[in-house]
Formats: sequence, structure tokens, C-alpha cells
Amino acid sequence: MFFTSGVSVLFEANYHTAAEIVVNQGGTSSGKTYAILQVLMLYAVAQQRKVITVVGQDIPNLKSGALRDALKITDESDTIKNAILSYNKSERVFQFRNGSIIEFRSYADPQDAKSGKRDYLFINEANGISWDIYQELSLRTKTRVYIDYNPNAEFWVHDRLLGKKNVKLIISDHRHNPFLNFEMRQKIESIKNEDIELWKVYARGLTGKISGLVLNNWHLCDDIPPRAKLVAIGLDFGFTNDETGCLAVFKQNGELWVDELFYETGLTNPDIANQLSSIGLSKNALIVADSAEPKSIEELRRLGWNIVPAKKGADSINISIDILKRYKLNISRRSINLRRELARYKWKTDLAGRTLNEPIDRWNHLIDPLRYVALNQLKIKGNGKTKTRLPYIQQHLIQSEPYLFTI
Ligand SMILES: Nc1ncnc2c1ncn2[C@@H]1O[C@H](COP(=O)(O)OP(=O)(O)OP(=O)(O)O)[C@@H](O)[C@H]1O
Ligand SMILES: [Mg+2]
Repeated sequence: MFFTSGVSVLFEANYHTAAEIVVNQGGTSSGKTYAILQVLMLYAVAQQRKVITVVGQDIPNLKSGALRDALKITDESDTIKNAILSYNKSERVFQFRNGSIIEFRSYADPQDAKSGKRDYLFINEANGISWDIYQELSLRTKTRVYIDYNPNAEFWVHDRLLGKKNVKLIISDHRHNPFLNFEMRQKIESIKNEDIELWKVYARGLTGKISGLVLNNWHLCDDIPPRAKLVAIGLDFGFTNDETGCLAVFKQNGELWVDELFYETGLTNPDIANQLSSIGLSKNALIVADSAEPKSIEELRRLGWNIVPAKKGADSINISIDILKRYKLNISRRSINLRRELARYKWKTDLAGRTLNEPIDRWNHLIDPLRYVALNQLKIKGNGKTKTRLPYIQQHLIQSEPYLFTI
């Protein structure tokens, strides 16, 4: 037998394909890297003078992953061992007797990636490699590109490759790898007890939410339940460039329900008062507003509204976010601007891409009033329960038998 230890369904799916690009998205230990390397070894042995490049984010990554697996694969197969003329450890190049080579490389920048041409390319853990580098490499690849990654978040594969002609997608998880022991499987499944998002990505190979999103515990609802209790109205003042944002926060059964009321530039304080009246808000309803505009707050109070400033404090942004994260947030479908803000409200990152403990200060004219209500009216304890409802297709994949999802 060519591979003494055997092959998995992933090997078959990667081997029997005519696609130009084969994308292996998957959970951890599904056997992606191993299967692709087996396929590439087979090509190297069976085809003369082929150049195969395996690319990793950096050399330490390759050494502890793909390269180690490649050495294991060669070690376990006499056929491959006999076909190899030499292995240059410092250059990380396997030289085959038939003239084929497999090289393990990393590229510093797109310019660096312009060097050399190849027949087959394997981008290992592709979310660590930039689109620009990928593009230079794939342009110089004659026959086929293999890609593998854990889908922590969408990246260029999702934006630019999936769905295109000649791109095959294979989604796998540990259940497709027959070479894994029980303890390992249990460890992977137990991620569920810590974080459902992580479990989705690492135990099921399903694409996670964009990393760095501040609030991802929100869901759409058609309407506010009639018996939900109004917690407060949140109000953020804007004028020329920034919108005045106003929303209503309700609570029922430990969950929050949020409804956008208005989101407009150019509103004066009397305009705001008119808006509040026109939606039928009682003058008794509590309004929590941006504390940076005491004059506006006072003006609205003199017009009869029950309005107070949001609590101030050095860490008020993070405190209010912590509070909001503890609730399931039900956002009414009509809250279009709030939905847009939530989808963009991310933690700041530094130049190296590391997440900072501070949200971006944009697209928050409805999120800020939501925070104000949380700060003043909601307890830090919350109910501790946030349920994640997965999109239909992902739900279906989780519940179904562990068939190999391919398109
Ligand atoms: N055909 C095989 N024969 C023997 N062992 C295998 C085979 N396929 C997978 N394995 C074993 O399963 C382990 C996990 O596989 P692999 O590293 O390819 O998973 P992966 O999907 O790339 O995981 P990650 O996403 O974490 O990188 C390998 O280290 C290897 O020990
Ligand atoms: Mg891998």
C-alpha cells in the first residue's frame, strides 16, 4: 500500500478533483493538512519534474505542523522513502529521483513571493497569509492550489474565492479523521462548555464571526413582545456630521429587546422633543442621554421630559459593554441603522493586528445610547446566560450526520 497507515475521506476528496483551487475549511485535527500532504507526496512520486510549494506563515509554524507531518508521511511509506533522493533539512526541500521537488517555504512580502514558479501550491493555515502574497504565488502556479485553515473568521478565501468556478470547498471536522483517539475528540468537543463560537469553528469547521466584534450576542426579532417592560430610552446627541440616535430598550425573561426610534442629522432639541412626542412616548418614560451635553439635557427637561445624563466614569465604555454582553440582545428587524452599527462595532487593533481593549469610536450613535441605558439601568450581574442561535445552514450541519460537506 502506498500509505501504510491508510487514508481518510479527506484524502479522497482532495485527490479526486479537477478543481483549480481546493479549499479545505475545517475544525482542528480533521486531517486536512495530513491529507493534502499525502496527495502532494503522491503527485511528487507519480509525476516527473513537478515543483510543489508548501507555504506557511513562518518557518516555526511549518516546522511544528506541515513539515513534521510530511516527515511522518515519508517515514511511514517505503514507496515514498524509496522515491526520495534527498531531504535538505536547512532548505526544507524534498528532492525526488524523478526530478520532482517539494519545498516548504514562507514569504516575507508579495515581492518575495514573486520568486519561482510551481505546479502545485499548498497554502497551509491560509488565514495567516495575506491576499497579496497568495495572489503572487497562485499566479505562478500551473496546475492546482490547495488551501487549508480553521475558519475563525471570514477572510480573503470567503471574499474572493468561494463560489467561483473551479473552486472546490471541503468542510471537515475531527469526525472525518479516523486516526484520532477518543481523548482528543473529547477535548475538541468540550470546547462547547467554554465558548460556542470557538466550538463552531474548531469542532465543526464552521465559519466564526468576524474577530474583534464587540457585541456578537445579538439576534434579530420581528417585534418587541407586548409584555416586555421598558427599561429606558437611550439618546445620543448629534447634529451636523453625526446623527442623533435614539432607541428603546425593553426587558423580558432576562433578555433585552431593542428598538431603534430615530437616527437623523440636523435635529435641534425641540426637534428631538417633537420626535419623542410623535412616537407616542409618555413624558414619564426615563430617557438616559449623553452626559457630554448637559445643556441639551436641561433643555429637554424644561420641555417636560424625564431625562437624565448617563453615568460618567473612566471605564464606563468597557463596563457598559460587559453588561450588554451578559444579555441576549434581541434587535428588531426594523432597526436598520443599529444593525449596521452592530455589524461594524469592533475592538481597535494595533498595527500588528492585535486586539486592544477599546472599541473603535465610530458607528456608535445607536450603540452609545444602548450603552447609556445599560450603564444607568442594568445590573452588572445580568443573568449570565447568552444563547447563540446559529444560522440555519450551520445549525443543520451541526445536527446532521458527519458527512463530508463539499461543493
Ligand atoms: N492518514 C492519516 N494517517 C495517520 N494519521 C493521520 C492521518 N490523517 C490524520 N492523521 C493524524 O491526525 C492528526 C491531525 O491531522 P491534521 O494535523 O492533518 O489535522 P488538521 O485538520 O490539519 O488540524 P488543524 O486544523 O489543527 O491544523 C495528525 O497529526 C495525524 O497524527
Ligand atoms: Mg493543519
